Amino acid sequence: MIRIEHLRKEYPNVTPLKDVNVEIRDGDVISVIGPSGTGKSTLLRCINLLERPTSGKIWVDDLEITDPKCDINKVRQKMGMVFQSFNLFGHRTVIENIMLAPMDLLRKSKQEAYDTGMRLLRTVGLAEKALNYPDELSGGQKQRIAIARTLAMDPDVILFDEPTSALDPTMVGEVQAVIRDLSKTGKTMLIVTHEMAFARAISNRVFYMDEGGVYEDGAPEQVFDHPLRENTRRFVRRLKVLELNIESRDYDFLGMAGEIDQYCNKNQIAPKLASRIHLAFEELVQQMLVPALESPRIQAVIEYSEADERATMTVRYNGEPRDITAEGDELSLTLLRGVAADMRYSALDDAAYPNQLDLTFSG
Ligand SMILES: Nc1ncnc2c1ncn2[C@@H]1O[C@H](COP(=O)(O)OP(=O)(O)O)[C@@H](O)[C@H]1O
Ligand SMILES: [Mg+2]
Repeated sequence: MIRIEHLRKEYPNVTPLKDVNVEIRDGDVISVIGPSGTGKSTLLRCINLLERPTSGKIWVDDLEITDPKCDINKVRQKMGMVFQSFNLFGHRTVIENIMLAPMDLLRKSKQEAYDTGMRLLRTVGLAEKALNYPDELSGGQKQRIAIARTLAMDPDVILFDEPTSALDPTMVGEVQAVIRDLSKTGKTMLIVTHEMAFARAISNRVFYMDEGGVYEDGAPEQVFDHPLRENTRRFVRRLKVLELNIESRDYDFLGMAGEIDQYCNKNQIAPKLASRIHLAFEELVQQMLVPALESPRIQAVIEYSEADERATMTVRYNGEPRDITAEGDELSLTLLRGVAADMRYSALDDAAYPNQLDLTFSG
């Protein structure tokens, strides 16, 4: 079991891990997902002490590995790490690459290291390449060798940091297949990956990393299908979000139109859908809401889902509970109904924004 408490890692310019608290059980296969720069690699590197945490504690079973008196090499032997780049020794044959660490660090005999090495090569489907040099292999084969080399140390835990990101797409499958087989052997594994289908297929838990920690931790069905938290939902649905805030009647409406333009262009939103978003914002916010509210405070959140090419706009506003679409002038309303596939009002129990309108758009 690995227990992480209040783990924090600061670099001079960023603090990717602010406060990580999780428990990893023996046999857990955990996919670690999240936007780039959220500390996924840093977390793995702290767990095997390639990085010294700034503060916080990590226990592996009863051993506190963050204790300065702890023997780092002992810890590393219990944890294998597989990187994006395979780091094989170019001047050694495949089987030698696998035999080296067990002979050096575990004091295995040559024969024993060889036997284990060949057995592992068979499990990754590369026994016939034992006497080849790494340069004679494809990227996918090299990564399978790197996995076999990690397994040769018989680690309790294996950490994979984007093991297929450096590969040609045609080779991703063979490496995933090896990791999938491994995931059934009861080894504890953490796998940083961007391949959502793969993550769902192999893991019993998913960590979604964001805001300096493990932002959501749950079964794949939860995290991918019914995420509990906002950022997770946006990430798994590949949502692109634009938030606009209006704090007064004199807001910069041209600047905002420009922001919407930029957002639509950047996310390659189809022109028809983009013009619907524009029109809805203009009619609803500019023409109806701002004039109707005495001191307007409006928040408009536009979300575009790459996955299904649909957009939504959530508009929250201040004042008494009041459905503006029940009173606006007919022309504006007709226009709005023409561009939005659906539009509904709800009164919220929220002091700042008691009113919410949800609009959906399709292409
Ligand atoms: N050795 C380092 N020195 C300084 N900053 C670093 C170092 N390693 C990572 N970072 C920064 O920490 C943040 C998190 O990095 P990383 O853990 O690699 O994120 P991820 O793997 O989720 O993409 C990034 O902003 C990155 O630039
Ligand atoms: Mg990374």
